[in-house]
Amino acid sequence: PLVTTTEMFKKAYNGGYAIGAFNVNNMEIVQGITEAAKELEAPLILQVSKGARAYANHTYLMKLVEAAVIETGLPICLHLDHGDSFELCKSCIDGGFTSVMIDASSKPFAENIEITKKVVEYAHDHGVVVEAELGTLAGIEDEVQVSAEDSSYTHPEEVEEFVSKTGCDSLAIAIGTSHGAYKFKPGTKPQLRFDVLDEVVKRLPGFPIVLHGSSSVPQEFVEKINKFGGNMPGAIGVPEDQLRQAARSAVCKINIDSDLRLAMTATIREYFAEHPGDFDPRQYLKPARQAIKEMVAHKIVDVLGCDHKA
Ligand code: G3H
Ligand code: 13P
Ligand code: NA
Ligand code: ZN
Repeated sequence: PLVTTTEMFKKAYNGGYAIGAFNVNNMEIVQGITEAAKELEAPLILQVSKGARAYANHTYLMKLVEAAVIETGLPICLHLDHGDSFELCKSCIDGGFTSVMIDASSKPFAENIEITKKVVEYAHDHGVVVEAELGTLAGIEDEVQVSAEDSSYTHPEEVEEFVSKTGCDSLAIAIGTSHGAYKFKPGTKPQLRFDVLDEVVKRLPGFPIVLHGSSSVPQEFVEKINKFGGNMPGAIGVPEDQLRQAARSAVCKINIDSDLRLAMTATIREYFAEHPGDFDPRQYLKPARQAIKEMVAHKIVDVLGCDHKA
């Protein structure tokens, strides 16, 4: 069935692992992810961004995920990623999602509380859970400005007031990750701020924490993309050992989108280079789906630790 994250997070927190939250935009992505999760009996969060909903349409995504529930028999949570307004969250809640994120992290603290609280009230009335965010994810440009750097991380002294005033069910924090395939300056040592995470956990014992921007940007994909006509110099992600460390902690949800895009793009670029005469989309989407499946299986077993926890 489609489920909320309540039970998933409780088990993950106590079990010292994390659930993968993978972004979905089309059928092959849904199939690649869910086939891996089924084989490994892993609990799963499939998430849909505003852009995904604009691309594929709510009903198509809803029905693809419902199909995945039928085909896998897994407990799957369908989550809105980075909801930017009450109206968008409400639309997803009314349309059958079991979890929504309201991301008002760019707003002033009081305003973030106000809008998050409004979403929580509506969501909880409808049996839906809410992820909120404090702190803004580091961008590579932000890293250059040392003075701005500390201000973008989550301030641990704010988290108790935020969670108690909003009633949110999980909290995304900023500890040095960022979205996309260019997360750190090449030549610098990527390092998440586990000290900030520790300070947050001290103040919110037992509360599920979420990490966005957690693709590891596997260099095998980047090299393949560059080898077969792409141009992604200096693409770099979060080292897997740091994600593993996060998964063992209070972090219960780890968001991955870019790695899916890289797996798909690398595989299709290679396929086109090696089969220039082929033009049936099934010919190149089949290995692309398989590459997603293998990448997700690796995350489940070697990074998240959520295999056989469904
Ligand atoms: O947080 C961003 C996710 O990777 C979704 O990206 O807004 O391009 O669908 P998107
Ligand atoms: P990545 O770009 O690192 O995959 O992050 C995805 C994400 O946080 C979706 O909300
Ligand atoms: Na965890
Ligand atoms: Zn995100």
